[in-house]
Amino acid sequence: MIRHLACVVGARPNFMKMAPVLRALAAYGRVRPVLVHTGQHYDENLSEVFFRELGMPRPDVHLEVGSGTHGQQTARVIERMEAALAQGPPGGGRYDRVVVVGDVNSTMAAALAAVKLGIPVAHVEAGLRSFDRSMPEEINRVVTDAVSDMLFVSEPAGMENLRREGHPEEQLHLVGNVMIDTLRWLLPQAQRQDTLDRHGLEPGQYGVVTLHRPATVDRPETLGPLLAVLDEASEELPLVFPVHPRTRERITRFGLAARLDGKGRLKLLPPLGYLDFLALTSQARLVVTDSGGLQEESTALGIPCLTARPNTERPITVHEGTSTLVGSDPERLRTGLRAILEGRYKRGTCPALWDGRAAERIARILAQ
Ligand code: UD1
Repeated sequence: MIRHLACVVGARPNFMKMAPVLRALAAYGRVRPVLVHTGQHYDENLSEVFFRELGMPRPDVHLEVGSGTHGQQTARVIERMEAALAQGPPGGGRYDRVVVVGDVNSTMAAALAAVKLGIPVAHVEAGLRSFDRSMPEEINRVVTDAVSDMLFVSEPAGMENLRREGHPEEQLHLVGNVMIDTLRWLLPQAQRQDTLDRHGLEPGQYGVVTLHRPATVDRPETLGPLLAVLDEASEELPLVFPVHPRTRERITRFGLAARLDGKGRLKLLPPLGYLDFLALTSQARLVVTDSGGLQEESTALGIPCLTARPNTERPITVHEGTSTLVGSDPERLRTGLRAILEGRYKRGTCPALWDGRAAERIARILAQ
């Protein structure tokens, strides 16, 4: 019996999580994945470039929802996803399951549309909890897991969270981290690129910064002091900062751009593709970020990571990995940077099952 799976992606961090799952599913002839792109991210450098570099097929279905408030975006995905699911896979038949990844609005909305039509949902990267419901992603994680009956988990804390929320054991699968599958697959190719030369950087002699979360970038009194510390640190260690469109808009609106043109070497770049970005992070001396994905990638790469958040849904990156939470406190960021630059920073280890084979484990279970 052919099994039809609707595999849903929407925003940048979804692409590197779904790509290895699609590749692993190709080993199972009786499984037909249909790739659905919600269109939450639509810019060339937030979407297209990832399809090319990750060798992803073109989406079979595109919902073109675009940007909006959380309500608008979520509602549009639910409405259009419901119609697409009701229509069935291109070529006929019915969907047997919907597969969603991560914690963006598209993840939650697609899961809701599916479960209301009686189509079971598998969630890849289930169980992560920051216990901070002011984060939009936390709401997305809680809701998505509540309506999913197949939960693929990347670290042990996620298993505990799901058990506590009452999920029966047979729904839980500790499989490892699919994003690290992509990292291990493309690392050699990324490091063969001339990315460092193009940016005038030497391996181990620069740092990488990314900040894009509303809690970090939406208020000048939070963003301004963090950028000031980074600007100051860049006099000692050049820093490259690929800037998310949301952050770019805030930097301009808050009048912070002029202050960054000083003597420091904090260089703002446009958002980068997967390979250029991995080339930069994997050869950096340190990373400063508020991204969940980059906390995990730094841990897998063994690169020190100062996480500009008060909490994390990925505690293994702090307990075993290379991440330290510094909140949005400029003093803690400065202290962390000093520790790394003076060689007093912890060494991490790579968590179990972050071995490049998580998607194979997932595909085996999905194909059963
Ligand atoms: C989304 C996810 C976040 C993830 C991030 C990665 C949610 C709630 N948030 O945040 O978890 O870490 O993606 O990037 O789903 N924009 C563009 N071009 C695009 C898409 C967006 O310029 O292709 C701009 C628009 O002004 C838009 C804003 O970015 O309003 C925010 O986009 P949105 O998709 O709402 O959330 P992100 O901040 O990207």
